[in-house]
Formats: sequence, C-alpha cells, structure tokens
Amino acid sequence: MGNDAALSRSGQGGSLPNWGDVIRPDHIHGSLYTNPAVFEAELERIWRRTWVYVGHESEVPKPFDYVMKSIGPEPIIMTRGRDGQVHLVHNRCPHRGKHVCVVEKGNARSFTCPYHGWSFDNDGPIRGMPFPSGYDGVDRDLLGLGKVARVASYKGFVFGSLAAEGPTLEEHLGGAKYALDALCNLSPEGEVEITSGFLKHKVRANWKFLVENETDGYHPAFTHASIFEVAGSRIAELYGSDSLCVARDFGNGHTEMDLRPEFRKRDEPMSWFGTSAEKLPDYVARMNAAYGEKKAREIMIDGSPHIMIFPNLFIAEIQMFVIQPISVDLSVQHVTPLQFKGAPDLNRRLRQQTMGSVGPAGFLLADDAVMYEGTQRGVHFTNPEWLYLGRGRHRERIDADGYRIGEITDEVTTRGIWSHYRSLMEAA
Ligand code: FES
Ligand SMILES: [Fe+2]
Repeated sequence: MGNDAALSRSGQGGSLPNWGDVIRPDHIHGSLYTNPAVFEAELERIWRRTWVYVGHESEVPKPFDYVMKSIGPEPIIMTRGRDGQVHLVHNRCPHRGKHVCVVEKGNARSFTCPYHGWSFDNDGPIRGMPFPSGYDGVDRDLLGLGKVARVASYKGFVFGSLAAEGPTLEEHLGGAKYALDALCNLSPEGEVEITSGFLKHKVRANWKFLVENETDGYHPAFTHASIFEVAGSRIAELYGSDSLCVARDFGNGHTEMDLRPEFRKRDEPMSWFGTSAEKLPDYVARMNAAYGEKKAREIMIDGSPHIMIFPNLFIAEIQMFVIQPISVDLSVQHVTPLQFKGAPDLNRRLRQQTMGSVGPAGFLLADDAVMYEGTQRGVHFTNPEWLYLGRGRHRERIDADGYRIGEITDEVTTRGIWSHYRSLMEAA
C-alpha cells in the first residue's frame, strides 16, 4: 500500500479512478474524499439514483402545507396536495432556474417565482405566467416544476428517487426497516412526529466521513469521553471492549449499532434514555395502556435504534440527522429531536437532551465535527495515502437473520458502507 503516483494524480487531478483500485477489503484510498470528479460521479450514481430520505409526513400535516427539503445538493419542496397526498417537486423555476419557494415552510396553494412571476400549483403544474400572450401556442404542460421521479414513504418517512426505475423503497430498506418499526413502537400511538424544527450544522468534510462516523462504535469512548464524564452517563459502557452490543451491516449500505443486548442485560425500562420508568409515569402509563404491560416493558427496555440508513438518514436514539452533501469537502447535517405521538413528557425531555447534545452549544456533535473536519484535512496529505478499516475483520460473523455482524467497536459497518458504495459506483 505504498505511494502510488497514479492514484495520487487521480486524487488531485480530478479523473475517475478504477473503483477496485481505490476500494479494497480493508483499505480505501484517501482521494475518495477529495477528488471532485468522484463527488460528481457520486451525485450521478448515488444521490440521483438511489432512494434518499427527504422528510416526514408530519412536517406537512394539512393540505397545501409545504417545507423546503433537498435530495443531495438539489433543492426540493415537499408539499401536501389538495388530495392529501405528499408530493416532491424540484424547487427550480423552469423559466430561468430561480428557486420558486424561498420561505422555509408554510401553507400555500401555489408558489410564485420572484423573478418574472410564473406561478405553479403546489404539486408542480404551471398555473400562469404574466403577460401570457407572449406564450401563445406554447405547450404549458411542459413548463411545470420538475417532479421527483419516485416518491414513497414507510411509516411516515418520505423518500424520493430521482431515477424512474430501480428497486422499490421496501427492497432498498431491507432489514433496516425493523428500526423504523421499533422507533414507531416507542409511541403509544405508533407514530413518530417531526415537529421541533431543524438545526443545520455546516461541516467542512466530505459527506462519507459523516456517514461512516454515525455507526463507528470505536470512537465514542475517546471522542466523547468528556461529555460522558460530565453527564455521568452510562453510554461509555456500551462502546467498551466488554460490551455485548453488536455492529451490523444490513447490506445496501445500511448499518447499525445494535445496543439492545446491553439494555436487555440491564433489564431496566428507559435505561436507553438514561432514566427510569418512575421518572416518566405518564409515558409509561400510556405505553402500558397501548401495548399491554409485557410488550410495553420490552419496548421500553430495547429503546430507540442507532441506525444509518444509506445514504443520508441517521437515527441516533433521541434525534434524527439528515446528511446533505454540498461539495466534495462541504456537508450539512440537519438535526432534530425525535418526537413520539402521544408522549408529551418524554418529548419535552427529548427536546432538552437534543439541545444539550447537538444544539448550537451542544457537546456531542461538536466533538464529532472536530474529528471529521480533521480527517478531511488529513486525507489531502500522503504517506500513507490509504486509510485502514480492517478492525475486527477476523471475527466477523453472520447473525440469525443472515446479516454480517461484529463487536460494537469493529469496523464491520464501515466495510459494509464501502462495499455497497463500490457496487453503486461500478454500476455506471
Ligand atoms: S425565473 Fe422564474 S419566472 Fe423567470
Ligand atoms: Fe460521535
């Protein structure tokens, strides 16, 4: 794995590498994070092709509600139509390209472009243009907002694909679907709500460093040592070498840190949230009423998942992150607390904890940001120019459901992400 002049040049010069030359079973080449041509190819082969998480149905509860979203760098508007259906349209005027929607969210039957005043129904078709005689004889059906080719939702989580064909959303999610089911089960009414707004964190790092970090179980004990100590948290136990927790590769790039083995060993409802059932009597009563005491107890012991749904949706127990690539070395993380329908006392604490961990002065995300900005700077330098991700490869195994797993600190997740990445990039 010594210096490789040809690869270095492709990293600097912007030509596309041979994917097998830069992605090996336990090494990847640093240029994958710095080469602008690789980033452009990712937009084409990943962000404009696979299913990408866009938003949650609860963000547009009423007809004509809308919210500005994105698929990769592309601006998208998620709207609810007159018919109650959720639509995804491109926020780009077909006239000269201006954003037609400039207010983050609201309720509007139509959008009017600020430049020359064309207006559009909230699901895309053109409604009118000023001084219309200038368009006599023009086919107006061709002048609506672009529609996202495929839109599908699972348990209220709305995904879009800019490709007209490909696997269905359920095929794409595969085994990772379980995590969205588990999440909804934490609500006495079986539904997640995204109602607290988003904070946006700009990070000077390639988007893949963020994706990898979300299910890197090796770093918390070190990167986050200070917050675990200050908060008197038991989280560090989960990410130690004696932990029973498991790192899992679901395939299709989806990976998780399965923390349930340790929570089941503790056998304490709400331990996953760093609290106890006694501190949340209203929530516990509602859960017991909804599911029965036995099932409710199991749900409250297992807790919320820690899963990275490729390429951009990260559920981190108490909050959700949506990863947006902007350029080869710039990304934005959109973060919001998870909220569970019918759980007001739990929701209040989820909001407070989210502010403490990933708010403007939060401790957790700042720790991570220092690391991925540092790795981004590091990969511009050489010797060695490869990154090693072979931790625990010798002890990987297959679980009862057929998924590859390893110890919680092993890089089975990172290898899973790169293996899927390679298959997407090779499918030119
Ligand atoms: S750019 Fe939108 S109306 Fe001209
Ligand atoms: Fe972290």
